[in-house]
Amino acid sequence: MTTTATWLGHACVLIRTRQHSLLIDPFLSGQPLPPPVSPDTIAADFILLTHGHADHVGDTVNIARRTGATVISNYEITTWLTNQGVSRVHPMHIGGSYRFPFGRLKLTQAVHGSGLPDGSYGGNPCGLLLALDGCTLYHAGDTGLFGDMALIGEAGIDLAFLPIGDNFTMGPEDALRAVQLLKPRRVVPIHYNTWELIRQDADSWAERVRQETATQAIVLAPGGSVEL
Ligand code: NI
Ligand code: MN
Repeated sequence: MTTTATWLGHACVLIRTRQHSLLIDPFLSGQPLPPPVSPDTIAADFILLTHGHADHVGDTVNIARRTGATVISNYEITTWLTNQGVSRVHPMHIGGSYRFPFGRLKLTQAVHGSGLPDGSYGGNPCGLLLALDGCTLYHAGDTGLFGDMALIGEAGIDLAFLPIGDNFTMGPEDALRAVQLLKPRRVVPIHYNTWELIRQDADSWAERVRQETATQAIVLAPGGSVEL
């Protein structure tokens, strides 16, 4: 079986490796349109959270309780999840990496906030740099543009997930600059069109990426997949 990455709407990405299901930012039941997969049936061995905002923590507690998945995030968020009744967590922090059964994960910086849904302190927001099955993936989380994306790109990114929605994160213009700094082989835009406030034309953004960079831009519909 090949490794696949499936966009489940907003910032939620499901990665299926040969042996594991990794769910990133599982905000599913809160999406205005029915999500491509129900949070009541989705499989997960690991749940990775970029930051504490409700549109990223989403259905984490329920999915983790049902599946027994290990939730990986920053120390503040995993501590909060433990208090919510999540039994398996793995705390990390920015700059740190760890070899998990699925591969190596490093938390990178993100320029954003991270307050948890009940107002608790959620530490600093993160991006995710994943090395698995011979591929390097970068999920930027919610972030503004920052110059050190060039450093993150030195890892040689095969597939990047970047927010383009504007208002809360990078908009299309800055996300294009991000592609120029990260130099990923392929990029998938996320965190747009969930609400009117972050409505964007992903196809014209992808066209600009194709014209102005060497990166292949892939626009997915929610539920659409990329093979790694
Ligand atoms: Ni956020
Ligand atoms: Mn968000």
